[in-house]
Amino acid sequence: MFKYHLSEVKDIAEKLIQKVSSNVLLFDGSMGSGKTTLIKAIVKSLGSEDEVSSPTFSIVNEYQIANGQKVYHFDLYRLESLREALDFGIEDYLSSGSWCLIEWPDILKDYLDTDYDVIELNINEDQSRSLKLKFNQHNNTPNHVL
Ligand SMILES: Nc1ncnc2c1ncn2[C@@H]1O[C@H](COP(=O)(O)OP(=O)(O)OP(=O)(O)O)[C@@H](O)[C@H]1O
Ligand SMILES: [Mg+2]
Repeated sequence: MFKYHLSEVKDIAEKLIQKVSSNVLLFDGSMGSGKTTLIKAIVKSLGSEDEVSSPTFSIVNEYQIANGQKVYHFDLYRLESLREALDFGIEDYLSSGSWCLIEWPDILKDYLDTDYDVIELNINEDQSRSLKLKFNQHNNTPNHVL
């Protein structure tokens, strides 16, 4: 568990990239908890110079990183069902081997059968954020909570 202020988000992003066990990351947290802010920092730390903004109206944004690799940033807030995500082609993104950073991932959770980590964000009273990284949420092995 990390606690971080806005000024520390870059350090947290770098730490996370080192620690995650999958490049499919689900960001759990209430509205305004800092999902987009953290994803921005992660995309930057991965070496992208692209402008990162919330894809709320486009569902997915694509960013370029080194060696022609890509990062996909999803905001599934406006999707109501897994069906809509599948129609949108989410499977192809998830199996692409690229980084997939997903805000509002709940509709996917019962569906995902590949490795993914969950990053849970909570807002503290002092407005800092707490972050929990949960590894390999797709199977029934005991969760390792950092
Ligand atoms: N660690 C932090 N400490 C203080 N403020 C933060 C922190 N992280 C993010 N914020 C602030 O919280 C606000 C909301 O952040 P952000 O848009 O990233 O949240 P979100 O979880 O993506 O929201 P949404 O659910 O609407 O997509 C922003 O003003 C941002 O600057
Ligand atoms: Mg957001």
